[in-house]
Amino acid sequence: MSISARMTKAFADRFESTWMRTDALLGLVAADAILHRPISLRHPFIFYVGHLPAFAWNHICRGVLGQASFQPSFDEIFDRGIDPDVEDPTRVHAHPEVPDRWPDLADVHAYRDRVRRAVLDSLPDIEEHASEDVMARQGRVCSMVLEHELMHQETLLYMIQQLPPEHVGRPARAVPYAFGDGRRPETVEVPGGRVMLGADFDTLEFGWDNEFPSETRDVPAFAIDALPITNRQFQTFVDAGGYDRAELWSEADWKWRESWRQSHPTCWSRQSGAWRYRTLFEWIPLAQVGDWPVYVSLAEARAYARWAGGRLPTEAEFHRAAYGDPRGGARAYPWGEEPTTDRHGNADFGRWSPEPVGSRPDGVSAWGVHELIGNGWEWTDTPFAPFPGFEAYIARYPGYSADFFDGKHFVLKGGSWATGAPLTRRSFRNWYQGHYPYVFAKFRCTYELERTTRATINAG
Ligand code: AVJ
Ligand code: FE
Repeated sequence: MSISARMTKAFADRFESTWMRTDALLGLVAADAILHRPISLRHPFIFYVGHLPAFAWNHICRGVLGQASFQPSFDEIFDRGIDPDVEDPTRVHAHPEVPDRWPDLADVHAYRDRVRRAVLDSLPDIEEHASEDVMARQGRVCSMVLEHELMHQETLLYMIQQLPPEHVGRPARAVPYAFGDGRRPETVEVPGGRVMLGADFDTLEFGWDNEFPSETRDVPAFAIDALPITNRQFQTFVDAGGYDRAELWSEADWKWRESWRQSHPTCWSRQSGAWRYRTLFEWIPLAQVGDWPVYVSLAEARAYARWAGGRLPTEAEFHRAAYGDPRGGARAYPWGEEPTTDRHGNADFGRWSPEPVGSRPDGVSAWGVHELIGNGWEWTDTPFAPFPGFEAYIARYPGYSADFFDGKHFVLKGGSWATGAPLTRRSFRNWYQGHYPYVFAKFRCTYELERTTRATINAG
């Protein structure tokens, strides 16, 4: 087989398996909920049924190959979603108008099926465009479309989690929740060192625009929680009145907490005095998942950190904690060079829920920091911004990142149980507004090393 034929086959397989999972999880949405919009800042579910094929069509078939549209109106209305801007829901970034009435689901399915066939038929022709189009080289456009679909699988899942359970289908097999004890909390020291954020364009098969170019930074020593904060730990903060103590919140975060009347994590609720926890499918007693990582917004994470005498890590500190190697340089993954597998972290849909923290010691970093990949994205307190020399290199999608370099979005690293394995690479950067409380996002705290401790280390 030629290189091109082998690439065609590999991408065809990846498309088929990705589509199968998309269909499975859209199948969890009850038919009468397809127009529901459980998160007001996102479109109803039906948009995503059309958005995934429209994106594939617009970038592969129409974009790289210049094919003529067979349904231009769908290409347009399903092209881009709204900006998940919690402060200003009316703000849209040159996105198409929301139609007064969404098309019939059957027509959207027909469009999807036609696009899928066209994509598979187009794969062998992409390589011919490599000389004039960077997106055709190394099948970048295919990687992009696949990764875009993976990202939306996750956004769909956290939308589904906001639906009342009666609108969520039950999977054929019982969901194997892991209850029980996690690892005990512990704080470890990470020695100072040099980190490389981002990646070099020529050494990565595909990366989004915000991953380039690489940037080197020096990170001073710090202390960090070896494990993310659990529901149980967070409950002590709630019980201590953390949501009512303005001094723990920044001014803007407090404003948000007041206007949203946020008084606990979004996936918790209180029913006749008993705390309950929302999994993807149902409400269960919070006490059963005390050792699962707590999923919160950045604002809530910051307030907890301040209460605990710490702060959130920066993006560079996350890199140092995750990828630093005592022999110098950086590892590809916290545990070494081997890409993420089931042994290393609760990612890539191995489970359809979080699990007790620290359950996969094979994923530990050089400094003894656990689950930096999987079981929940991790908030950093670094605003989402371009690295020096950034270029919106994806010509047909200049706003993918640039629309969100607004100081309101913050970088998340790592990945959740619903994050596809390709997205767990070191340079991948996720981002959300600090006041967006729906993401499968956990956090851990960092602490300044005491002057005395540092003196002792230097002396010893
Ligand atoms: C990078 C996950 C924040 O879903 O808003 C999908 C990814 N951009 N389609 C989002 C994205 C356009 C984006 N996140
Ligand atoms: Fe999208």
